[in-house]
Amino acid sequence: MYDGLQRPLEVLSRKTGEFIARGVQASPLPEDKLWRFVPSLEVGSSVGPGSQLGAVAESHIIEHRILVPPNLKGRVVEIHEGDFNIHDTVAVLETRGEDGISRVEIPLAQRWPVRQPRPYQTRLAPREPLISGTRIIDAFFPVAKGGSAIIPGGFGTGKTVTEHSLARWADADVVVYVGCGERGNEMTEVLEEFPTLEDPRTGAPLMKRTVLIANTSNMPVAAREASIYTGITIAEYYRDMGYDVLMLADSTSRWGEALREISGRLEEMPGEEGYPAYLAARLAEFYERSGRVACLGGSQENGVPQRYGSVTVIGAVSPPGGDFSEPMTQNSMRVVGTFWALDYDLSRRRHFPAINWTRSFSLYDLREWYRGRVAPDWDDLTREALALLQREVELLEIVQLVGPDALAETERAVLASARMLREDLLQQSAYHGVDRYCPASKAYWMLKAIMDFHHRTQSAVQSGVPLQKVSALPTVTEIARMKELPLDEAETHIKMVMDHVRSGFAEWGVN
Ligand SMILES: Nc1ncnc2c1ncn2[C@@H]1O[C@H](COP(=O)(O)OP(=O)(O)OP(=O)(O)O)[C@@H](O)[C@H]1O
Ligand SMILES: [Mg+2]
Repeated sequence: MYDGLQRPLEVLSRKTGEFIARGVQASPLPEDKLWRFVPSLEVGSSVGPGSQLGAVAESHIIEHRILVPPNLKGRVVEIHEGDFNIHDTVAVLETRGEDGISRVEIPLAQRWPVRQPRPYQTRLAPREPLISGTRIIDAFFPVAKGGSAIIPGGFGTGKTVTEHSLARWADADVVVYVGCGERGNEMTEVLEEFPTLEDPRTGAPLMKRTVLIANTSNMPVAAREASIYTGITIAEYYRDMGYDVLMLADSTSRWGEALREISGRLEEMPGEEGYPAYLAARLAEFYERSGRVACLGGSQENGVPQRYGSVTVIGAVSPPGGDFSEPMTQNSMRVVGTFWALDYDLSRRRHFPAINWTRSFSLYDLREWYRGRVAPDWDDLTREALALLQREVELLEIVQLVGPDALAETERAVLASARMLREDLLQQSAYHGVDRYCPASKAYWMLKAIMDFHHRTQSAVQSGVPLQKVSALPTVTEIARMKELPLDEAETHIKMVMDHVRSGFAEWGVN
């Protein structure tokens, strides 16, 4: 847990108490702690940038791979197994430079300037979604591993809750959470809660994979910018080890405000709304540091398997008044692949997550993965469901103009199905013991059951069954309760619900 300048907050609080005093220094990593280093190479191996020298067990789940720094190349002349602190030399390289052969000592810790992206071998197209455990995201607007997304939303629409829930449940190996200029108690919440929650993939406490960078609203404004860069650099560092890393920033707007303030004091020419003219470039540079890559130190040189890693960046944006036309939202939207538009009306009606399904988008093509890994008809189902929600918007407009009597019975049935989709699928409480995390397979079965019900409703209504009778089927309440089904039995239960749907409609001759 760090502040914006990567000073460990625990150490700072021991040094200066609750508030950070001016000019305190502290090493980001404990300098006296010994780590067991196990080499994976022998003396004589030739190594290049990013080659793995060995590993340290950072926790049960993270193997901290010790790599050759990105600018070095040579032959290993010494390498030791043993217990070392971060500055001890674990290996010595012999490098050939312009001024002859020199020896370079390699310690466990590395330094890197935060504004400079860490290099990689090649950039790869994102292929796999970052499964978030939130149905509307996974089913309709997924973000790829190595992609980028923003969550813009007005005051109290659920940016922080969404970011926290992504930090908890997204299937990343390492999570870097940057609290940038927001409330301190939100960081405290994370700190108190994460050690008690289990990562659904590994069973280890969530804290074991999380790096927190707190630059809360009472900390210096100039350090907000540093906190963003520190976060992304730590994310890249773990990416280079071959991990899928998720970086979250709440809120990037506070960083934008810091840029505006600093630029003002430097008396630079202001751009739109007083933001500096280079705002768009800064944002693009930052989001472009996300990506899925083949890491340096791959197989060519020494038969070591190629490592692949990714950094996914998700930034919250707080547009004043929830107006998405302001510069931070517009400039971020242009460079990211996924846009989750939080809607004030939805949040006021307590429809959470308040992600608006008509304004949000995802540009990643992940259909192949879903078809292979979740279900062959995933894509057809989600597309049809989204079309149904779209149709609801059109029909509701008609109702507002000319009243509900203008609708045909089948159209009223569409409204009923869309409502079922909204209430029983899209609404998902981040605070419910079971429903806060929904694996993609469960989301699929829920969607399948609802769409199945929808199709049967349409056939029944077309053959003259009144909609009222359909809506009174007892299985409607079973569908509403699907989200609360325990995860390990969800699939069997939902298949049972679908059996009930089938038998419920059978009496009207619909099958
Ligand atoms: N997914 C969710 N499930 C349940 N409740 C939610 C969810 N998202 C938001 N809420 C409710 O909305 C409230 C406000 O959410 P949150 O603090 O995330 O808003 P915010 O957009 O971060 O606001 P601010 O602009 O003040 O930072 C929460 O306290 C919670 O009651
Ligand atoms: Mg917030």
